[in-house]
Amino acid sequence: MSREGDLEGERFLVSAGPTAEPLDPVRVFTNRSSGKMGFRLAEAAQARGASVQLVSGPSAEADPEGVDVTRIQTAAEMKRAMLERLAEATVVIMAAAVADYRPEKVERSKIKKGEGPMVVTLVRNDDILAAIGKLRGAAQTVVGFAAESEELEANALGKLERKGLDLIVANDISRTDAGFGVDVNQVILYDARGGKKALPLMSKRDVADEILSAIQEYRAQDRR
Ligand code: CTP
Repeated sequence: MSREGDLEGERFLVSAGPTAEPLDPVRVFTNRSSGKMGFRLAEAAQARGASVQLVSGPSAEADPEGVDVTRIQTAAEMKRAMLERLAEATVVIMAAAVADYRPEKVERSKIKKGEGPMVVTLVRNDDILAAIGKLRGAAQTVVGFAAESEELEANALGKLERKGLDLIVANDISRTDAGFGVDVNQVILYDARGGKKALPLMSKRDVADEILSAIQEYRAQDRR
């Protein structure tokens, strides 16, 4: 459900896409995120009157008209870009599939193959959403995503609590027809006040509008 102009005055900060963690000048560790969900959220928020900053990892999606887009590669760059823009935002949505690990060492020149197996040590990246959850102001609304293959509700609610979120968008990645890389998605929205809304399979643009309506209603409850 889209209500024209209902997000006027809101300032959205949205992340999208995968991150890419270099191993050497020609190789990266990345994931299958297409960026579609984050881009649809940015477009839908802009269409409903919000000003929108979008921070995206490598994605084939074109810059949406009227949206301020920052393209980054690594999780560390995404963290910096998000934190720089955090204070300005009224709503933050982390739709990006941030790499949990990066190669410990980035080689300056291309790694040559050898005879035996190759071992790469990966180290943990910071959790950007958890950092935002700690730095956030009470008037900001913070939204995360949870991709789960089992125990969807328990895991999503655990993340909502642990990362200091207002809303979490959970999707079941054991389904192959929705989610990663495709234009449709099926999600369940949980909020920090005990609200739950299971949505049917729908286009990512429609999912985006449902998420935005849930955010709008959540923020309106605060103003009552
Ligand atoms: N996220 C983040 N920074 C990371 C990893 C994830 O900001 N380094 C954000 C994602 O953008 C998403 C949410 O956290 O909004 C996903 O939480 P996460 O705990 O990574 O969930 P999963 O990817 O499902 O990981 P796991 O089940 O392995 O904990």
